Amino acid sequence: MSDPRAIGVFDSGVGGLTVVRSILDDLPREPVLYFGDTARYPYGPRTLEEVRTFAVQIARHLVERDVKMIVVACNSATAAAIEQVRAAVSVPVVGVIEPAVRAAVRATRNGRVGLIGTEVTVASGAYHDALARLDPGSEIALIGQACPAFVEFVERGDTTSPALLAAAERYLTPLQAAGVDTLILGCTHYPLLRGALHHVMGPEVLLLSSADETAKDVYEILGERGLLNEMTRPPDHRFECSGDPEWFAGLGRRFLGPEFLDADRVSLELSKSR
Ligand code: DGL
Repeated sequence: MSDPRAIGVFDSGVGGLTVVRSILDDLPREPVLYFGDTARYPYGPRTLEEVRTFAVQIARHLVERDVKMIVVACNSATAAAIEQVRAAVSVPVVGVIEPAVRAAVRATRNGRVGLIGTEVTVASGAYHDALARLDPGSEIALIGQACPAFVEFVERGDTTSPALLAAAERYLTPLQAAGVDTLILGCTHYPLLRGALHHVMGPEVLLLSSADETAKDVYEILGERGLLNEMTRPPDHRFECSGDPEWFAGLGRRFLGPEFLDADRVSLELSKSR
């Protein structure tokens, strides 16, 4: 059995393309339909209610486009709305939080795990909720730290400057003081900061990318449900955004690489999905 429909992936903007990168590395035959909500970006400083409304609206839009599953490739949207998205659509839904928490539970040696993300992600408590669900009675201490400036550094292409390293040291010092041996990169942009994070945290601390861990879950779900695409010709990917397609495409090529072609602007307000 072969299912040629696309995997629907969405994010507040370009960051979810790090998740697409990991999915395509593991599943190169799968077509992806990506939606970046660049007109309402960033989600990090928004309220949970706002992000919930946006996430459900985008998920419905992707289902109208006949995707076979949905990946909520945004930590802020997963934190705010994963259950609401699951309730709103009938296709399988994967977020970026549970896969990373599951990997952290397996990986930590000293039971002290750090979490870095946007303000809304860290404030939501969603990672703690996932830990309680996946590891009932957990003895793992999960220590969260919001790192609001990181997203802008990444989008400027700055992953090495003294200012970036100073911000990283400021944010990460409390996690070092807490003795974490595992650090969850709980934001779509942070895989692009891996070098700087490794430099500041040191070689003993394992960096866990939500993007890589989520791709493993996508692989399992498509395989288990008979939804894999068996066609051997290269898949056609589509990229949609709610804001300026040129801005989106410029950054998108850096986040995803050669699979990124053109982007189309789609106005959700005009879509039937509301
Ligand atoms: N995609 C967002 C996340 O993973 C980061 C950018 C934003 O704040 O919207 O949390």
